[in-house]
Amino acid sequence: MNVAGKPMRTIWAEADGGVDIIDQTLLPHEFVTVTLATLADAAHAIKSMQVRGAPLIGAAAAYGMALAMRDDASDAMLARAADTLLATRPTAVNLRWAIEEMRRLLSPLPPAQRAARAYARAAEICDEDVAINRAIGEAGFGAIETAWRKKGRRGRIDVLTHCNAGWLATVDWGTALAPIYRAQETGIPLHVWVDETRPRNQGASLTAWELREQGVPHTVIADNAGGHLMQHGKVDLCIVGTDRTTASGDVANKIGTYLKALAAYDNKVPFYVALPSPTIDWTISDGMREIPIEERDPREVTEIAGRLPDGSVARVRLTPEDSPAANPAFDVTPARLVTGLITERGICAASREGLLSLFPERREAARA
Ligand code: MRU
Repeated sequence: MNVAGKPMRTIWAEADGGVDIIDQTLLPHEFVTVTLATLADAAHAIKSMQVRGAPLIGAAAAYGMALAMRDDASDAMLARAADTLLATRPTAVNLRWAIEEMRRLLSPLPPAQRAARAYARAAEICDEDVAINRAIGEAGFGAIETAWRKKGRRGRIDVLTHCNAGWLATVDWGTALAPIYRAQETGIPLHVWVDETRPRNQGASLTAWELREQGVPHTVIADNAGGHLMQHGKVDLCIVGTDRTTASGDVANKIGTYLKALAAYDNKVPFYVALPSPTIDWTISDGMREIPIEERDPREVTEIAGRLPDGSVARVRLTPEDSPAANPAFDVTPARLVTGLITERGICAASREGLLSLFPERREAARA
């Protein structure tokens, strides 16, 4: 995707082995890239949400393993790196997927070969993510085209999205936003309702920023506005991402997604979830019981950061000093509320059979 008109990815390795990322905690006010030099830097980047979004967390973890191997390629370090990175964030399963993939690959190798192989595999994981997201864009475009046809190809298509499941959440293209970028290329007139996504405002700060950079018409709305817009026929379809999808099609995504799915269901608005296959956790079926939900710092609820008229960025308090706050970061939308799962292999029903129709090779894993 483009930044100031120039194509960029969200993570890349430098010739000297450092790994560059965009510091997403500073957007939309500042665009700053940061170099990760150590395992500790990578773990910090994931935990502090300099990088975030399920697929990008996976890519950053893969590079975190490579940075660790560059320092010390022993078995002890391999185990320590995996444990350190796994402890950063609990919900997005891409993290575990990438770490397990790196361990499986590196463990049998002699230590002298591990660093080079780790960098090569991390780069491949990034390239695979780009290819997968491009394919998700193609598959999801079908859903947008259907909505456009239903409207008699008149007016515009209004898509509602929650959180940031765009380019910034992946290596390139995004998941939920990939179909939107694909539709933009084909000339279908569309407009995106961007949920602000309290408390960290990934919609207002990140989705709005990247849509603006790509020239996609959009409007930021308060999180509570979506239901009203749906009641008034102002949303043609919803597309969101996910941090973990169970083998039966339940989806965990940013807190507030479930309420949007309920409103969409009540108003017969199609509700799609876009996901790359590493986001599917084939080992679990019941999303509500089995997906760990990250609890984050309550200060993300009680305080907010923004730009002051003098251009500086400041944090201000929103609540009374002694009012307690809670901050569950994700919720689970049951499969029954999901119209379809958009994957790199096509769109399927949000169900075990739907997923297995696209990923038949997982039949054994999904039986567990
Ligand atoms: O807490 P975050 O910003 O990492 O949460 C991100 C989301 O919930 C995204 O919607 C999800 O990871 C899908 S990203 C392609």
